[in-house]
Amino acid sequence: MARIGLLTSGGDCPGLNAVIRACVLRGIRIHGDQFVGFADGWRGLIEGSTLELDWKSVRGIGGLGGTILGTSRTNPLGDRGGVERIASNLRVLGVDALIVIGGEGTLAVANILSNSAIPIVGVPKTIDNDLFATDFSFGFHTAVEIATEAIDRLKTTGESHHRCMIAEVMGRHAGWIALYAGMATSAHAILIPEQKASIEDICEWVEGPVRRGRPPLVVVAEGFLAKGMSEPHSERGLDAFDRPRLGGIGEHLAPIIEERTGIETRSTTLGHIQRGGAPCATDRVLCTRLGLAAVDAVHDGAWGQMVATRGDEIVRVSLADSVGRLKTVPQSRYDEATYLFG
Ligand code: F6P
Repeated sequence: MARIGLLTSGGDCPGLNAVIRACVLRGIRIHGDQFVGFADGWRGLIEGSTLELDWKSVRGIGGLGGTILGTSRTNPLGDRGGVERIASNLRVLGVDALIVIGGEGTLAVANILSNSAIPIVGVPKTIDNDLFATDFSFGFHTAVEIATEAIDRLKTTGESHHRCMIAEVMGRHAGWIALYAGMATSAHAILIPEQKASIEDICEWVEGPVRRGRPPLVVVAEGFLAKGMSEPHSERGLDAFDRPRLGGIGEHLAPIIEERTGIETRSTTLGHIQRGGAPCATDRVLCTRLGLAAVDAVHDGAWGQMVATRGDEIVRVSLADSVGRLKTVPQSRYDEATYLFG
């Protein structure tokens, strides 16, 4: 039996509640554990702000979007005395171990805290699917489903008006959502941060389908920059606690494409719609498996480890080996998509 603290930190993501539910049910039923939820990520742990977490509080939440614990981008390392307050709150509350559900920034903090002898197990989340040590992070499949449905809709209105439609999807550092949703909707151009393309390339891709009497579709990840285009946004970098808001690249490209090709062009930014709402079935199952595995990792004393997917298996990987680098779209995967361009 253990007393386990749970927190969700960083941007939210469909499936957080399914992970929380799986952890609590596994812990209570199999190990006789007790749980303490921390409100709004690291902030709750620093301030000692807790939420009750028993089998009743997780009843029926497996298919619910958001997180019942709340989340924030509070970084305890940026707060003087934050780490000491975390250690003392864990002591006072009698918490034996912490399960931290978060993305790159959150897991990097978890790794540092784990090196300070705080017993931590990580669970990777991000719709961007760019965490290095896991094949998939939960939320990604849901985001792709949402983006695909939205882009299908953009295609029919584009067709009616003979317009070029641009769909901007999330993906700060990696273009996984753009790649999957773009391939699923047969986009004529997929623009991602990993691949530089010039305005000339993009216009050529747009003109190709027009010549065949088809309305062009461009899917662009928010982190894409065209060749020669200067950085339109101030902050970048691996730290998810910086100001991550990008957005606007689609709106930026639309008038340029329209002017150069003479094709009327509209852009739609899908934004946080990709993060909100219920997780898809694939993510619900993945989250449940990750939650079960995280609690078992606690009982094995697998501190400083993160549960991850490798093929169809749930494995443990060290946090130290997982943070500080990202899983970007490899050339071979992009090449498969370019077959459909133009
Ligand atoms: O990390 C996931 C992500 O959805 C990014 O793709 C996006 O840039 C960012 O979060 C947006 O974060 P916020 O909700 O803080 O604006």
